[in-house]
Amino acid sequence: MSTPTPNRRLTAPAILSRKGGTPIVMVTAYSATMARLVDPLVDMILVGDSLAMVEHGMPSTLGVGLELMIAHGRAVVSAAQSAFVTVDLPFGAYEAGPADAFRAAARVMAETGCGAVKLEGGVHMAETIAFLTGRGIPVVAHIGLTPQAVNALGGFRSQGHDETARAKILADAAAVAEAGAFAVVVEGVVAPLGAEITEAITIPTIGIGASSACDGQVLVLEDLLGLTDRVPRFVKRYGDLGKAVSEAVGAYADEVRSRAFPAEEHTYKPRG
Ligand code: KIV
Repeated sequence: MSTPTPNRRLTAPAILSRKGGTPIVMVTAYSATMARLVDPLVDMILVGDSLAMVEHGMPSTLGVGLELMIAHGRAVVSAAQSAFVTVDLPFGAYEAGPADAFRAAARVMAETGCGAVKLEGGVHMAETIAFLTGRGIPVVAHIGLTPQAVNALGGFRSQGHDETARAKILADAAAVAEAGAFAVVVEGVVAPLGAEITEAITIPTIGIGASSACDGQVLVLEDLLGLTDRVPRFVKRYGDLGKAVSEAVGAYADEVRSRAFPAEEHTYKPRG
């Protein structure tokens, strides 16, 4: 397998320099088709492990492995021209220690050509983040509601409601920034805490269910397009593609059944 050439896209230092500036726009994509469509419109594309649920019908992100993340990551990188592509490290690939994390991240970087990896965790992942960044792997951290820890957190619940939780998440933010992450996704925290974190650290915060004060925002593409059933509070639907798909496929099915499709212009005539 050939190692992709370093990308021509937005870089990690360029993202870092956006701290406090024009908000960073990030969206997930898992396929070449979606990456091609969103690439000219956003700054960052996340090949998130949410693909476990959205693309593969799994109940959580825990079931997705490195091979699947690499396959989707490669597809997205192949189609993205300008946006910065980050690929999630899946559950189980990095938590045991820095050396494991490096092996997983190196594979993801080499086999997809992405610009960075994202991993979940704060203070307890700081050593790993420093290990990766010290070896040339740009890292986006992910704190607050960390879906890979759903079983420990007791469900997908917003975080940071009391002083102990607030102090812990602030310490997580400081630790990942200190360790060398160039950006941090802040998920599902009470809005004042999202703003406080953004004020407190020198790297961009990218919020999802956090605060409009964050340095950027991220949403799952299928959620904002109206392709998913469950809509969490923090999602705004910007389209109704689910309805559009039903209408288009319904029309196709009707025409196949009535033999209106294919029409003459969709068929090949014999030559000569
Ligand atoms: O996996 C994912 O899509 C994510 C975003 C929700 C931030 O981590």
